[in-house]
Amino acid sequence: MENQSPLEKLRAKRAAALLGGGEKRIAEQHAKGKLTARERIALLVDPDSFEEFDMFVTHRCTNFGLDKYIHPGDGVVTGCATINERMVYIFAQDFTVFGGSLSKTYADKICKIMDMALKNGCPVIGLNDSGGARIQEGVDALAGYAEIFWRNVMASGVIPQISAILGPCAGGAVYSPAITDFIVMEKSNSYMFVTGPKVVKTVLNETVTNEELGGAKVHTSKSGVAHFIANSEEEAMLTIKLLLSYLPSNNLEDPPYVPSADPITRNCDVLNNLVPENPNKPYDMLDVIYPIVDDGEFLQVMSNFAQNIIVGFGRMNGRSVGIVANQPKILAGVLDIDASIKGARFVRFCDSFNIPLVVLEDVPGFLPGTMQEHNGIIRNGAKLLYAFAEATVPKVTVIIRKAYGGAYCVLNSRHMRADIVYAWPSAEIAVMGPDGAVEVIFRKEAMAAENPKAVLQAREKEYREKFANPFIAAERGYIDDIIEPSETRFRLIRALEMLANKKDSIPPRKHGNIPL
Ligand code: HXC
Repeated sequence: MENQSPLEKLRAKRAAALLGGGEKRIAEQHAKGKLTARERIALLVDPDSFEEFDMFVTHRCTNFGLDKYIHPGDGVVTGCATINERMVYIFAQDFTVFGGSLSKTYADKICKIMDMALKNGCPVIGLNDSGGARIQEGVDALAGYAEIFWRNVMASGVIPQISAILGPCAGGAVYSPAITDFIVMEKSNSYMFVTGPKVVKTVLNETVTNEELGGAKVHTSKSGVAHFIANSEEEAMLTIKLLLSYLPSNNLEDPPYVPSADPITRNCDVLNNLVPENPNKPYDMLDVIYPIVDDGEFLQVMSNFAQNIIVGFGRMNGRSVGIVANQPKILAGVLDIDASIKGARFVRFCDSFNIPLVVLEDVPGFLPGTMQEHNGIIRNGAKLLYAFAEATVPKVTVIIRKAYGGAYCVLNSRHMRADIVYAWPSAEIAVMGPDGAVEVIFRKEAMAAENPKAVLQAREKEYREKFANPFIAAERGYIDDIIEPSETRFRLIRALEMLANKKDSIPPRKHGNIPL
């Protein structure tokens, strides 16, 4: 060691740092079916593009003999790199060093790249695999977490923030990913919870596994905490890359333009016969989405949660769009609490990052019932309304079939300042569905008649003829045109071109008070 030249010394130190917690720990990590922090980064970024910072940073904790264990880099690998030639900042927690647990210096490393990302207008990607706060560090570790949380909030809506969960993510540590825009969870080794199975057993006497409590399946289908599930770490990295391809690097840029050979006037005749004649029969809204986007490519976000609403990214004539669509196949496409929250967060993301919104509407209303009312469908449904109302990006709606009641108003109606509203000839725009409406306004008349059922049926027919069409709304100018389904792709592309230079704003304020 003493005879080493400065260069040799540097190389030796680098080699030690590159080993993280050492070969044995790396082997253990691999045995669990997990990659190391550096292997993950290599999978994610363009070859040889990673520029690492703070490789020689060490912790400063002397409690409980921790000063005997020094690993250069201290459990997190940080730096910047390009993904498809676009700059991103990255941190990857290294489970081979003290279980990836967070010390103050480790947190400082993350904060440094978050600050740089914000200053330079680039996305931050966090690869999480950690036992949480480094217990020996006490309040210093907590201070480190809080510094990260604060930066997550400051960066929100300014640069995209994406988290991959590739191992444990527990305790207060979950709140950093929770504030980021998207969470990708690896299917078999990742879990997130505020309190783990042991505490659950002690406090509630409930027996539950890590996976049952906070595995990828739970968070992508039940809690709505995570947005994507990946079958492997490789798939998680591909998901992040794909997601980034639709997003600008910051809120002052437009999303990347991706030219497509898909003609804007491509024939979509299949759409002319998609909506069943019987208005109570379902169809799959994805069969509308895939034909209208470039090359049939659509990245669904939260595809397993609140499936009665579909949200995701596509491109139209090379430009990113955020699509929000009711799914008549699930719960008739009704809006409930989960669907409202899912939709609202997506709309706000798109609005933050200059991604135009396209709404495909077939909604019979809000879901009735004590469950929904007691859990706050009023407060939560209001989120979706609020999100559409405050969004200033280009907003285009196509009413495919039902647009009933409050849901008509909420879902990017003209009155919520949609820029363009089209309807298919199958559109029904009314205060409520025919059967319910007739029950309310003609019940007395029917009860007084000899054959109440026949009266109700006749009135229902009359109601349907009056309201179950888009013409009244078109007469009022509430919709701009009734279009043939087959021309939806072309008309949407033209609408988005019309709106490409849209400038709009909302009254200046510190911030609004969205019902939370
Ligand atoms: C210090 C830790 C650690 C931690 C793990 N290690 N977590 N060291 N602080 N938080 C160490 C272990 O002692 C062990 O070291 C090595 O990392 C690997 O851990 P194992 O337990 O052997 O690994 P595994 O069996 O895979 O279990 C992983 C685990 C478990 C489930 C994450 O380690 C665990 O439960 N850790 C504690 C989790 C926790 O309660 N964290 C605090 C949460 S509260 P050796 O040398 O023995 O091999 C929190 C507050 C944040 O984070 C607040 C923010 C506001």
